[in-house]
Amino acid sequence: MGERTMKAMAYASYGGVEKLEQLELPLPKVGPGTVRIKIKAAGVNPVDWKIMAGYLDPIMDVHFPAVPGWDVAGVVDAVGFDTPEFNIGDEVHAYGRRDTVGIGSFAQYITLPAGAVAHKPKQLSFEEAAALPLTGGTALRALDALELAPGQTLLIHNGAGGVGQAAIQIGRAAGARVLATASERNHELLASLGAEPLTYGEGLVESVRALAPGGVDAVADFHGGALEDTLAVLKESGKHASIADGTVGEHGGRYIWVRPDGRELARIDELVEAGKLSVHVVSSYPMQEAAAAITQSMGGHAGGKIVLTEFTD
Ligand SMILES: NC(=O)c1ccc[n+]([C@@H]2O[C@H](COP(=O)([O-])OP(=O)(O)OC[C@H]3O[C@@H](n4cnc5c(N)ncnc54)[C@H](OP(=O)(O)O)[C@@H]3O)[C@@H](O)[C@H]2O)c1
Repeated sequence: MGERTMKAMAYASYGGVEKLEQLELPLPKVGPGTVRIKIKAAGVNPVDWKIMAGYLDPIMDVHFPAVPGWDVAGVVDAVGFDTPEFNIGDEVHAYGRRDTVGIGSFAQYITLPAGAVAHKPKQLSFEEAAALPLTGGTALRALDALELAPGQTLLIHNGAGGVGQAAIQIGRAAGARVLATASERNHELLASLGAEPLTYGEGLVESVRALAPGGVDAVADFHGGALEDTLAVLKESGKHASIADGTVGEHGGRYIWVRPDGRELARIDELVEAGKLSVHVVSSYPMQEAAAAITQSMGGHAGGKIVLTEFTD
């Protein structure tokens, strides 16, 4: 019997989007404690092109040809031995980062450890469900680190990105007042999510002080390059964290890195089910147009999530 195969977008060496090509790869096997997902949608994140460019090479082994994509939603089509959490036909989603780079969601199928996977909330389309795990998990982890109490004020650098939009809503659900930065064209969006919008760049410290004269209790940096502003507006007792600035640890902050964790994802899904968290998908592309999707992400101003759909032959 011939080996079963699947279509995937992949790259054989580090570089830009021109390295992406459609390949025929072996259908992934299904080991103990894993589920294989027939992919309906894959989320696109900045980390995908950063990995393709080789930025993570110092810390993660890579297996070429590498399939990009760590966010996925789809339907379980096979389960490994002793995986009682999932059944064939279940609609699921996951942040599917592995310990090495190579297995990704820009493909027709992916096999993931059951511990990374959660059932898809009915309220979300597959596109929305694929757009949530990485950014939602990052936002949750950052806000957990900040230990926000109801009534406290949180400042978010980059409220308009995927992580920022999730964090605004998680912060509001926790009872915090949220100030968040974006360019002016995204201020209405930030306000609709429950944040008080501010423009990033020159004058930010003054605008934060105008809204919070005593300083803010917590700062979440989702862009990088914001440390000076953070320290200028943070109360002495305040906490700060960054997902994009590895130096924050030297200044009393926490450097956050999202982990694949189905239980954490289930916590995010509970907020979705309670109507407290929504996902804003701005663009979707067929799998074969992954290069265009990544190019849009590289532009840095998507203002919401980009996804791949149509995983056809
Ligand atoms: N450590 C981790 O675990 C982790 C996890 C996820 C993401 N990240 C990193 O965190 C960053 C954000 O991720 P993301 O998924 O939210 O990205 P994203 O969705 O691509 O963010 C795009 C948004 O960034 C905003 N932006 C651009 N320049 C800005 C600035 N100077 N100040 C504030 N906002 C600005 C833009 O808003 P305007 O259009 O209004 O300018 C745009 O909508 C990326 O660098 C990503 O690689 C790290």
